[in-house]
Amino acid sequence: MTPERRPMLAANWKMHKSVPESLAFVRAWSRRVADGAALPPRDRVELVLCPTLPALWPVAGPLDAMGVGVGAQNIDLGAEGAVTGGVSGPLLAEALATHVIVGHSERRRLFGETDAVVGAKAAAVLSAGLTPIVCVGESSDERRAGQTREVVARQLTAVLDAVAGGGERVVVAYEPLWAIGTGQGAAPADASEVAGWCRGLAAAAWGSAASGLRILYGGSVTRDNILGFWHADEIDGALVGGASLEMESWLAMVHAVAPAPSA
Ligand code: 13P
Repeated sequence: MTPERRPMLAANWKMHKSVPESLAFVRAWSRRVADGAALPPRDRVELVLCPTLPALWPVAGPLDAMGVGVGAQNIDLGAEGAVTGGVSGPLLAEALATHVIVGHSERRRLFGETDAVVGAKAAAVLSAGLTPIVCVGESSDERRAGQTREVVARQLTAVLDAVAGGGERVVVAYEPLWAIGTGQGAAPADASEVAGWCRGLAAAAWGSAASGLRILYGGSVTRDNILGFWHADEIDGALVGGASLEMESWLAMVHAVAPAPSA
């Protein structure tokens, strides 16, 4: 982590929590903040919560009142038209989304999203005036075969080309597939090394704009291990799945990353 890049803590709720449950969580969080729970200033740490699509609009207002962004977990290409089931960037923006997760490994695996599609989606997010959080990461087989850099480079290059010079408006999340939902997170030093490699690729593609690119780590981040990633040199924050679903666990992570008031 470096001072010139604002770190991000983002929650990916995936297909969890009904609309009432999502609203109840956000309202309870808001009450806890009113009662003194830590909430880092927006200019020091960027907080983002990514609920299911139906919950996005209902929670956006209460989250905004706390200075917290709200993210969608997918975007469809195009603005409007005969795309049954599609949700475009302009629609997400109107629903008050501020961020969009793109290219999560679950979408690559379950919905066949290719590197080219992920790149186009990242560009569509930017066109809608929102911030893409683009996921990259290798499988356990690829890792065992020593292909981590090759796989991540392929995935990332498609995005870097599609959003040339995106700089600080683009966020990358390095999420090795073998670490997602397994309780076996990467070693912070290893994740930091991959993040550094990603930044090198961005520098080659974007030049000086790459210095603003934020690179998060995701995969079995918990209240117990988050600071190891948070303080790793090349890592600018965390994208948290399972551990973001439970209030005490989420509050503990928000508290852990909040700078001391006097700092
Ligand atoms: P877990 O934190 O549950 O491992 O999920 C990580 C993830 O996929 C976030 O996008």
